[in-house]
Amino acid sequence: MSNNSYKPCDLVIYGALGDLTKRKLLISLYRLEKHNLLEPETRILGIDRAEINAADYVAVARQSLEAFLNGPIDEEMWSKFSRRLNYLKLDLTQLEDYKLIAEAVDQDARVMVNYLAVAPFLFKSICQGLHRSGAVNAETRIVMEKPIGHDLKSSQEINDVVSSVFLERQIYRIDHYLGKETVLNLLALRFANSIFTTNWDHNTIDHIQITVGEDIGIEGRWEYFDKTGQLRDMLQNHLLQILTFVAMEPPVDLSAESVHNEKIKVLKALRPITARNAEEKTVRGQYSRGYVNGKEVPGYLEEEGANPESVTETFVAVRVDIDNWRWAGVPFYLRTGKRTPNKRTEIVVNFKQLPHNIFHDSFRNLPANKLVIHLQPNEGVEITILNKIPGIDGNIKLQNSKLDLSFSEAFKKSRIFGGYEKLILEALRGNPTLFLSREEIEQAWTWVDSIVSAWSHNHSAPKPYPAGSWGPLASVALLARDGRGWEE
Ligand code: BG6
Repeated sequence: MSNNSYKPCDLVIYGALGDLTKRKLLISLYRLEKHNLLEPETRILGIDRAEINAADYVAVARQSLEAFLNGPIDEEMWSKFSRRLNYLKLDLTQLEDYKLIAEAVDQDARVMVNYLAVAPFLFKSICQGLHRSGAVNAETRIVMEKPIGHDLKSSQEINDVVSSVFLERQIYRIDHYLGKETVLNLLALRFANSIFTTNWDHNTIDHIQITVGEDIGIEGRWEYFDKTGQLRDMLQNHLLQILTFVAMEPPVDLSAESVHNEKIKVLKALRPITARNAEEKTVRGQYSRGYVNGKEVPGYLEEEGANPESVTETFVAVRVDIDNWRWAGVPFYLRTGKRTPNKRTEIVVNFKQLPHNIFHDSFRNLPANKLVIHLQPNEGVEITILNKIPGIDGNIKLQNSKLDLSFSEAFKKSRIFGGYEKLILEALRGNPTLFLSREEIEQAWTWVDSIVSAWSHNHSAPKPYPAGSWGPLASVALLARDGRGWEE
């Protein structure tokens, strides 16, 4: 079966003129086209409020590619791609208007895939509008972008509304990190290599760090971001997803259900943060003016459209304890921020030091082994190990060296697809494995809510950090208190 032999779809994108669609969705769809992964009869219908026509929308898509593709546009592929595009002006809060969508799609010949790239407050009217217009049948799918809610309660409300129209198997909750090759590679690394299946618990591991830093600021999304903050925008979803892949027990197989079950167990075992320990276990930061890549950039409160009084965080660091057998006593340190010195997503597994050192002439303190998984950019895996320095003088001298596997070197012939490309394709194919279950999202909110409520109880305000740094000094102190330091 070739990769594009799935039933043709009508992909309906709500929020067709939004930032996500322009930066990610259109680019990913074009790339799928370029690699012949879009089924030939599949069409794309953009929905938004602006009074433009299909030709204008094609121009918008072209501009998006020019701005965000990071490479030349293949004219032949563009002309094929642009023929798939159509546009409908709609006020998503007007339930009667949805009949226009029902008329525009062709459900006899195509599967309707609704991609909600809009703010969650619109999810309800979209579901009701589609239902009322008779557009939903047993094959129709709905793809929901994060954030699904603002907390557990609002997430349950959204899930209830969506579930009143769609069955769980029709709902695709997206976290684009689950489409990233390197995140998926965690499954292979952990469960296809015996050295990691046996050395992956409190007996051998001292602690684990997960870092997701971005050199960009909030890129014109002040209004959205200020209501959301880094905890909800990044940690509730992307970092917790990475954490579950690192911490979960081996699933019995790779089916969606088996993987979801193991991830949920990890989320249930996260020790809640309390008002009493929040100060010691969490750090909130907000970037101030500084330099990133040699260029001066404004502080968060000086960004366009900013409310100078805002106390929204752009950086979070947390010590996470997982209360289960495997991870007892092994802290996971998570940090994520905007305007860090560079873009870096990585996991560092720090193994325990050996109980006794017979090489003290060379190293007073034998450094522990370390496994560094570079999720992006420069995808790869690196292990630091000690070796004897060649030489014939009496003492054995040791040196810490790296075993370095760079994906671009090791897999020269394979292209690394982006998270959105992979997940859009899976949604079009009708494969739910890489999407989130309702329970996973709700468990993640339960734990994140414990942080929000501790912060609000303590009236905690974010600490400033200069743009171009790895967050406030309190983040260094978070690990220093435990006698540890961040991998730099
Ligand atoms: C999104 C967040 O989910 O992920 C953004 O809303 C963030 O704030 C983005 O910039 C990061 O994604 P990536 O793939 O560039 O790491």
